Amino acid sequence: MRKKSIYLDYQATTPVDPRILDAMRPFFAEEFGNPHSSSHIFGNNSARAVASSRAKVAQLFKCGAEDVIFTSGATEANNLALLGVFGQRSPIRKFVTSAIEHPSVLEPLEQLKRRGAEVVVLPVSRSGFVDTAALAHELDGGPTLVSVMAANNEIGVVQPLREISDLCRRAGAWLHTDASQLVGKQPIDLASVHWDLLTLSSHKIYGPKGVGALIASYAVREVLSPLTFGGGQENGLRAGTVPTSLVVGFGIACELAADLLSSEPASLEVLRDRFIAELQALNMPFEINGTMQARLPNNLSVRVKGIDAITLFAMAPGVAVSSGSACSSASAHVEPSHVLKAIGLSDDEARSTIRISVGRFTTIEQVVNAASQLAAGVAKLRELGAIA
Ligand SMILES: Cc1ncc(COP(=O)(O)O)c(C=O)c1O
Repeated sequence: MRKKSIYLDYQATTPVDPRILDAMRPFFAEEFGNPHSSSHIFGNNSARAVASSRAKVAQLFKCGAEDVIFTSGATEANNLALLGVFGQRSPIRKFVTSAIEHPSVLEPLEQLKRRGAEVVVLPVSRSGFVDTAALAHELDGGPTLVSVMAANNEIGVVQPLREISDLCRRAGAWLHTDASQLVGKQPIDLASVHWDLLTLSSHKIYGPKGVGALIASYAVREVLSPLTFGGGQENGLRAGTVPTSLVVGFGIACELAADLLSSEPASLEVLRDRFIAELQALNMPFEINGTMQARLPNNLSVRVKGIDAITLFAMAPGVAVSSGSACSSASAHVEPSHVLKAIGLSDDEARSTIRISVGRFTTIEQVVNAASQLAAGVAKLRELGAIA
């Protein structure tokens, strides 16, 4: 069944691009050296590969290579950004975030609240935008860190980052952005928009799982406390051997993302819009969650009145889509998504939501086939009287 399944869950993770896999291969075998072993050629070759990848990551975001701290992924990068700026060396005591952040932002902030930090969670509109007037109100000149994601992993809405960045700069607040979903979809230029901390993940951009980065400005690095101890790696900010093969894959993933930035987003949008057109042509009744005006080109989040998404998936097993974020559906009890609730949906509306995300290897044929399977599944549920 897996072979016949059509994968439309690229926001959960992407398959590794074969070009990336080829580049990684030698670093599992003949170039296996520890990049921190500076006394021999094995280590030095590995260190050179890590340095070259660091430069590739930096090039995509127009920052300095020294700003890049490799981590195990976006979850760790978010934890390091938030928990790391609440140390003795840092003045930050107030955090402002949004209600639709990934749990790897919201849960560390819960921890910080217990440790005495002030945490403000901003509301979002029905369209999915963070309330920037409320943000401006919270920026009172005190040492504050604002954490707002670039693009949402469930509804795909892209936040007005330039406006948020300007507000933070004027108020002297630091800005952290989880950009894991926006990379490769829109340019992110740290030379022209001011950011202090940026979170990245390799497996959202066709690289391997288990690697990502936190980009941190010099001013932040000066006060950032590490979360792991026991090695001086990453300038003392992330102890642990840097996994050369994964980092090499991440570097090539960034290089490919840069090369494809002028063409790939437009192709993804064509596929996504075709999906919408197919559902309409098949008379499948649905409503789109969040605005279409500022949205990732590969995301579609729709609710089908009266259905339960999980029941629909059982009717259309040949389509691999998601009922929300992979992370929330992986937790022990499936609560309605906090993102969908935050934009004002009821529990039933949230449960009737399907997230479809296309990617680099999606074809028009797959889109047409998947749309027809989903529409047939809805028709079958209606026949069975399973639609409320
Ligand atoms: C917005 C966002 N942040 C963080 C993560 C976690 O990423 P990682 O798997 O690299 O830890 C994800 C992935 O699900 C995500 O979509």
